[in-house]
Amino acid sequence: MTMNTAALANRFRIAGALEFIETKDGLVKAVISRGGAAGELFLQGAQVTAWQPTGAQPVIFLSPRANLAPGKAIRGGIPVIFPWFGPHPNDPKAPQHGLARTAAWRLDRTEETADGVALEASLAVGGFALTYRAVFGDMLWLYLTARNISAQTAAFEEALHSYFAVSDVEGVSICGLETNGFIDKTADMRLGRAAGAPLRLTKETDRVYLDVPDRLAITDPGWNRRIVIEKSGAASTIVWNPWPEKAAAMGDLGADNWHGFVCVETGNVSDNRIELAPGATHEMTTRVRLDAQ
Ligand code: BG6
Repeated sequence: MTMNTAALANRFRIAGALEFIETKDGLVKAVISRGGAAGELFLQGAQVTAWQPTGAQPVIFLSPRANLAPGKAIRGGIPVIFPWFGPHPNDPKAPQHGLARTAAWRLDRTEETADGVALEASLAVGGFALTYRAVFGDMLWLYLTARNISAQTAAFEEALHSYFAVSDVEGVSICGLETNGFIDKTADMRLGRAAGAPLRLTKETDRVYLDVPDRLAITDPGWNRRIVIEKSGAASTIVWNPWPEKAAAMGDLGADNWHGFVCVETGNVSDNRIELAPGATHEMTTRVRLDAQ
């Protein structure tokens, strides 16, 4: 059952730290503001759409043209991708990037912890029970757990499709992928070779890196900061920016907004997909923080 804003506030609001707001199109979001940090999470898709430590530029990008309406994927933030990544493997009519990002998640719990304000939400999808915990503090902590609730061994792909806000995508570099080859989705899935140097984006980029290390960083000289991404249980990283031509063709992005973000996604996709026996559980976590450069 979906709860309305008043019922959610009654049960889950935290005075001075967490409130609920309904958008004009009827989506509900939790708005977090406490001491060192602010953030937002939409219950549709359990999608984080904002997080920033006090005094910092936003760390998460949300498109000014995002569709904030029921059933539409929200462009920006951190969509939860599950149980498939990209097009469905054999059903062309199934939505890109799975079912979780447009589903109505159930909010189960909110609390204040030493790490920040925590929200927990759950969703049953495709034979799996998902739980998602997001903690908004000086750092952003995300935990996605999947349990196989079917009677058969089953596989899934997943991603936290993080849109990171940057001063200019052409000025940043991504460290941590230097020794990994990648699948190039802009070149018929051909394999690209390890660059041996931090990644600079100079054109449309859509790359799937497999078996990556657990620590990556986006260095942003324009804003004099580094976004550090530390993860566990997640072997893949996807790097994406559409560049102007494709961005212009996307009604919820537009030609003027592609400079302001880079997607560096934490996940388990392609050959890193996860197979679970009935009753078994897998957890993937990401922790995001800012460092001065
Ligand atoms: C990336 C994919 O993760 O998401 C790209 O690798 C895709 O191929 C992009 O274009 C955006 O997807 P969507 O469904 O949100 O437009």
